[in-house]
Amino acid sequence: MLRLSGSVFCVAMALMVTSIGPASAQKARPAAFAQCAGCHATESGKNLFGPSLAGVGGRRAGSLAGYAYSPALKASGLTWNAKTLDRWLTSPKKTVPGTKMPFNGIQDPKSREQVIAYLLTL
Ligand code: HEC
Repeated sequence: MLRLSGSVFCVAMALMVTSIGPASAQKARPAAFAQCAGCHATESGKNLFGPSLAGVGGRRAGSLAGYAYSPALKASGLTWNAKTLDRWLTSPKKTVPGTKMPFNGIQDPKSREQVIAYLLTL
């Protein structure tokens, strides 16, 4: 039993090392992005309940044509970069009171960082 769980552990470690190794593509989607994918597509022009996140880095908040943003986000004056995304993804409601993004934020700094790094490649 002990030997079995030991080898299962080894396989798990090997999988982890492979998935975070330097060979992994820059665009690899971090696990934490799964919470966003239900509302956000990463293809350009594809808006779901939330706006497409393609090209979000450098974009002015609330500026995508064809998506009905909340007045609050449109008036926020934010431009999306590593810093503003970090605030936004820590607490959307505190960063932009009145936003219609119903998401409480990613509390784990490491996961937040991974999601932001990924967003900036889109
Ligand atoms: C339950 C649905 C939902 C989830 C989950 C969600 N979002 Fe959103 N998101 C929205 C909506 C709706 C908006 C538009 C907000 C507004 O207009 O106030 C939005 C807006 C945004 C914006 C601003 C885009 C722009 O064009 O200005 C970013 C960036 C964003 N979301 C990132 C994320 C990320 C990253 C996650 C996951 C960690 C996430 N969202 C999770 C629904 C969601």
